[in-house]
Amino acid sequence: MSRPHTFQLRVTEVIHETADAHSLVLQPRDEDAGHFDHRPGQFLTLSIPTDREGGAARCYSLSSAPVLGEGLKITVKRTADGYGSNWVCDHLAAGDEIEVLAPSGTFTPRSLDGDFLLVAGGSGVTPVMSILKSVLHAGSGRVALIYANRDEQSVIFRDELIALEKQYRDRLHVVHLLESVQGLPSLESLTELATPYAGRQVFICGPTPFMDAVTAAVEAAGCAREHVHHEKFLSLGNDPFDDVSVELDSTGPAGIVEVELDGRTTELAWPRSNKMLDVFLEAGLDAPFSCKEGNCSACACIVLEGEVEMEHNEVLEAEDIADGIVLACQAIPLSDRVRITYDQ
Ligand code: FES
Repeated sequence: MSRPHTFQLRVTEVIHETADAHSLVLQPRDEDAGHFDHRPGQFLTLSIPTDREGGAARCYSLSSAPVLGEGLKITVKRTADGYGSNWVCDHLAAGDEIEVLAPSGTFTPRSLDGDFLLVAGGSGVTPVMSILKSVLHAGSGRVALIYANRDEQSVIFRDELIALEKQYRDRLHVVHLLESVQGLPSLESLTELATPYAGRQVFICGPTPFMDAVTAAVEAAGCAREHVHHEKFLSLGNDPFDDVSVELDSTGPAGIVEVELDGRTTELAWPRSNKMLDVFLEAGLDAPFSCKEGNCSACACIVLEGEVEMEHNEVLEAEDIADGIVLACQAIPLSDRVRITYDQ
C-alpha cells in the first residue's frame, strides 16, 4: 500500500470575484513550500470531503503568477450541479485547511517570451490569467486576450485586467465578448478576431463547446496546429487521495527504468506489461498522479532516453509528445532501458 504525497494547505483569504466565483489564497506549511513552485497554467487537485464512494477529488486551475511571487491562488466557479465547486464556495473560509496534491498540468508555455493569443470562456480564464500575468511580467512579447462571458457581472478579474491594460498599454489587448450583448460568438466572428494573431502561441480554456468553436476558428485563421494548446478537464474516475495498492505482473520479460524524482535517481526493473507509474508506486516512490486514466497530466514526466508507448492519452498534445513528455500512468516500455525525469 502506498499513499500519494498529499499536503495540507491553509486558506488565508477568500476573494468573492463574482456572484458565483471565489478565489482562495492558499498557504503551504513551511516544510512543504518547495513542492508548490508551479508553472503558469497549472492546477491543484483538492480532496473535497464526501461520504460518496470513490471520494471527490477535483482539479482547479491556479490563477496566481509564480513569477510575481503571488501566493497560491485557485479560482472556483459554481456549476449548477457541481458538488465540488459548490462545496468549495459554501464551506471554505480563511483559517480552514484543505488536503491537496502538488501542482501539475501541461497547459503551460515552454517560454514566456514571444507573442500570445489567449482565449478564455467563463472560469476558463483562471489558468489563462496566470499565463497572461507571467508573460507580461517576465516575458517580452505581446498578449491578446479574447474573453467570453454571459454578461458583465460574470467577468472574473475585471478590475485586475483593467489595471493590467493600463500598465501594459503597448503589450496587452483585451477583447470582451458578452453573450448578453453580442449573443454566442460565431465561428466567423471568432475567426475574424483571431486572424491578426495567427502567428502566435495560442492557449484556449473554457467549456467544451466554446473550446471546440475557438479551435476551429483559430485553425481557420491560420494558426499552426502545433502552436494551439488546450486545457481539458475531465472528471476523475479514481480518488487520488485514497490508499493505492499496486500489484505488478512480473511473469514476463522486464526492462530497466531509471527515474529522477525529487533530486534522487532510482533504478528499477520494469516488467513489460505494467504501466510505468505502477512500477514506481510499487517501489514506494512518491510519483505524482491523479486520475490514472490518461485524462489529467498529473503524472507527466519526460523521457530522456529510450522509448515508451502510451495506451491512452486524452491530454497531451503533439507538441508535448515531441518534447518527450509522456503520461507515466499510461506508459509501457518499447526499449529495454528507459531513463525519465520528473525534475525538469
Ligand atoms: S494520472 Fe492523470 S493522466 Fe496520468
